[in-house]
Amino acid sequence: MIPVITIDGPSGSGKGTISRLVAEHLGWNLLDSGAIYRVLGLAAERAGISAQQRSELAILARSLDLHFQGEKVLLGDEDVSQLIRTETAGNAASKVAAVPQARAALLDWQRAYAKAPGLVADGRDMGTVVFPDAAIKIFLTASAQERALRRYKQLKEKGLDASLASLVAEIQERDDRDQNRSVAPLKAPAAALEIESTSLSIDEVLKQVLDRVQETYPELAISAPE
Ligand code: DC
Repeated sequence: MIPVITIDGPSGSGKGTISRLVAEHLGWNLLDSGAIYRVLGLAAERAGISAQQRSELAILARSLDLHFQGEKVLLGDEDVSQLIRTETAGNAASKVAAVPQARAALLDWQRAYAKAPGLVADGRDMGTVVFPDAAIKIFLTASAQERALRRYKQLKEKGLDASLASLVAEIQERDDRDQNRSVAPLKAPAAALEIESTSLSIDEVLKQVLDRVQETYPELAISAPE
């Protein structure tokens, strides 16, 4: 059995950062499942396929020429890492992600990432649907206001224009869609360690996750985060 840690939660909860740090710290593989839905959203838009065209979307999902190369996300030969990180791409991802046939088409592909020595899987349904037998399940949350503020700071740091009010509204709209869809909605898996990170630093969250890993796998020599 390959050890799997699932880290689920809403947009902007810090899952991406925490998942990457945990994977780096343990030397395990990382699956950024949100990037898959983001690339599918982009590919669908380019192919003129809407979220209503369910079977066409499933065919596209099955043939998606997506590769991760270190931090880079490639669609065919094209580096789409930046393109998929915009708010528009996030919204497009959330729409295609609500299509059951598209999700089903991506299941085996995601499960194939469970390789030795272990996997950290970041998403919305990692602990509930994709890896229901994972030994460690984390559910990371933060208030919508705090998540919008984090995003606002990130955009400003990149020199991009942003409005906090519209970021809060977009985050709430996306949460609503991700939580209320009929298939694999965002929810805390049973027996998950829930971490409310509104007033926690990244290091504090990382420590809680690594403590849980150490308890679950006492044989691993896990160093304290620097
Ligand atoms: O984590 P993220 O913001 O990159 O995800 C983008 C969208 O993809 C998100 O709004 C919902 C969807 N998603 C999903 O439905 N299931 C996942 N496992 C990961 C992401």
